[in-house]
Amino acid sequence: MEIFDRVSESISAEGWLALPNFVEPETIAALREECRQLAATGKFRRAAVGNNANHRIQPDIRSDEILWLDAAQGPEARQHCLARFEQLRLALNRRLQLGLFEFECHYARFAPGTFYRKHFDRFRGDARRIVSSVLYLNESWEPGDGGELRIYSGEGENEDHVDVQPASGTLVLFLSERFAHEVLPAQRERLSLTGWFRARS
Ligand code: OGA
Ligand code: MN
Repeated sequence: MEIFDRVSESISAEGWLALPNFVEPETIAALREECRQLAATGKFRRAAVGNNANHRIQPDIRSDEILWLDAAQGPEARQHCLARFEQLRLALNRRLQLGLFEFECHYARFAPGTFYRKHFDRFRGDARRIVSSVLYLNESWEPGDGGELRIYSGEGENEDHVDVQPASGTLVLFLSERFAHEVLPAQRERLSLTGWFRARS
């Protein structure tokens, strides 16, 4: 089945999916390298929670570091990857009429011991984030490395969940409004390109 058909079917039936090899390994390797370079040269910042007046650093909730990306710039591999996300945006709109208008994204780095507690990706008073997206850049991730993305499939206090390994080239997509999720403590460095397909307002 065509990949975008498969993605659309899962989003409409389940509301989420994990898809290996969304981007080819050479591109993932180049992104990983770029991400490491940017981290090594001090370009990342402690990630905050909330937006506007609620925006604050809360290491007890999340302890990763991020670097927002300008879609119009960057090395070839990143451009290539973002072009793939643009194809995905158009495909989702065509098949599911989601009205996705733009894609905002950042690199994220979880140092050993860091995590992101259970949360939703939508901000209070801002419903623009429709689909959350995480593309993992981590070579040969092993179960003992931790850092799983835990997606809560039930509602409210229901703790039913699925754990996804942040393995190289795996893309996770889910409806931002529907799924609480968390990043379990990582035992080694955990890198990703994380983004949101947003509606106009
Ligand atoms: C986030 C997030 C999940 C992951 O950045 O909001 O939930 O697997 N990331 O990195
Ligand atoms: Mn999140």
